[in-house]
Amino acid sequence: MKVPFYCMRPRVLSGVQPSGNLHIGNYLGALKNWARIQYDYESFFCIVDLHAITVYQDPGELRAKIRETAGVFIAAGIDPKHSAVFVQSSVPGHVELSWMLTCVTPVGWLERMTQYKDKAAKQESVGDGLLQYPVLMAADILLYQAALVPVGEDQAQHLELTRDIAQRFNSLYGETFVMPATGLPAVGARVMGLDDPTRKMSKSETGAGHAVALLDPPAVIRKKIMRATTDSNPAVNVANAGPGVLNLLGIHQAFTGWGDEAMKAHFEGMRYGDLKKEVAEAVATGLEPLQRRYREITSEPGYLDGILRESAERANAVANTTVRTVKERMGLYAAP
Ligand code: TRP
Repeated sequence: MKVPFYCMRPRVLSGVQPSGNLHIGNYLGALKNWARIQYDYESFFCIVDLHAITVYQDPGELRAKIRETAGVFIAAGIDPKHSAVFVQSSVPGHVELSWMLTCVTPVGWLERMTQYKDKAAKQESVGDGLLQYPVLMAADILLYQAALVPVGEDQAQHLELTRDIAQRFNSLYGETFVMPATGLPAVGARVMGLDDPTRKMSKSETGAGHAVALLDPPAVIRKKIMRATTDSNPAVNVANAGPGVLNLLGIHQAFTGWGDEAMKAHFEGMRYGDLKKEVAEAVATGLEPLQRRYREITSEPGYLDGILRESAERANAVANTTVRTVKERMGLYAAP
């Protein structure tokens, strides 16, 4: 449903780490969907560089990846005329609100977070930022009074914590924050790793044959898909296909939009080599417009910086209003 522009639209916000290498799983499970729903909301898409530095980042690489992520968002159809595409650290309210929320968050809530436990277990010395990570994320969301937060399943616990923090703040200081709903992607939008189709395609997985990155050239796309794991059947047997073959079929369907009947009629009995060729073709063709737009966006001097600046201004206007309200509620000095 499209809401006319003169109505107050609910807000949607999501955040993505600038870890680079956004892949077809991110596109089909998140970006494509955000591009579709953006006009139904007042939309904010945040590149969370402050979250990224909870583990060490090479400064030069981080700088480049922030720009790449912003460029890919826009190339994937996020419309910067309508939606704010901005970098977290250019809106000081994120850090300000984060501190205020830290002060109402029991440390036990943070120590229970599974993502924290996983990351902390891998490190000898655990930075405080890693523990605070979910509070900063709560601030990202509550700062904009977002009604909906589209995220992957792995972020559901962080969203629950965000609601707990909001509730606690509201009960201590009076109704202040909107309760954000978690928007999980549709089941069909889940893309699995090419090398291991039992695990979700992931940005942190570094194996060369794991994911097709959105900016991979067609030759690389082909090479990765030709090496994808299938099953021990001699050819496509839709009723008895293993997860690798279902994943390839799912990817093809997502890029072409073919219906189930057409898929089955076309692929049933096809040898895996031919299936892979067709999937690679569908992905390369499907990504071509995105890649073209990315090249246009990044070759026009100042274009991306202009968008990031303008979006940050819009985000700051909303953020400052919330920070001011929170300061007033807590009794902090809010200059008249
Ligand atoms: N933690 C999220 C992730 O790793 C990223 C994130 C940070 C986020 N702030 C957010 C997601 C706010 C949604 C809303 O995927």
